[in-house]
Amino acid sequence: MKLLQDTVRREGIVLNDQVLKVDAFLNHQIDPAFMLAVGKQFADLFAEEAITKVVTIESSGIAPAMMTAMQLQVPLLFARKHKSLTLTSDIYTETVYSYTKQVSNEITVSKKFLHPTDNVLIIDDFLANGEAAFGLARIVEQAEARVAGIGIVIEKSFQPGRQKLLDAGYRVESLVRIASLEKGQVTFVENNVMQP
Ligand code: G4P
Repeated sequence: MKLLQDTVRREGIVLNDQVLKVDAFLNHQIDPAFMLAVGKQFADLFAEEAITKVVTIESSGIAPAMMTAMQLQVPLLFARKHKSLTLTSDIYTETVYSYTKQVSNEITVSKKFLHPTDNVLIIDDFLANGEAAFGLARIVEQAEARVAGIGIVIEKSFQPGRQKLLDAGYRVESLVRIASLEKGQVTFVENNVMQP
């Protein structure tokens, strides 16, 4: 997605060779016009899938997932990472370990909102090791619903998440794929060819 590549180049800050800071447009301040374009792109990519629900994880997945759900005209359901006062029983739970942050989170979703008839599109802001996407997929599968695909805004292709998800049989669509963050530079993967 050219718009996203341009935005990453203009606004992204390479913190080190593993981490890209995107707080100007994606996970702190949000550019609504940009996010609307992200949602349209995911809706187009999965238009043939008869999606019934978009599922993500709080907090930074919510904005792109919301725009996607709006385009597809289906509900958005986000897994909680923090215990809710009211969400105490009848929940699906999974443990998601973050290698980046070196913490485990218990993620939860109310059983009320996922059904065996659901055909789910999982959306997230980043794909690194794939732990969040796998955790969400396991929750969808606990409900005996189907994972129709996984949409990612920024994939760090030098980390193993994409391959692990493909090996597990999931369809993965990433709007921007980063081949490397080395030497303070963002290098994109384009049609499997490295672009400077
Ligand atoms: P994984 O799910 O693919 O295994 O990824 P990982 O555990 O490594 O990511 C954990 C958190 O770190 C996620 O946010 C993810 O969005 C974020 N993250 C991973 N790589 C980067 C990066 O290069 N840049 C930035 N800015 N974030 C990155 P989270 O803990 O769920 O936080 P939030 O959604 O509440 O913001």
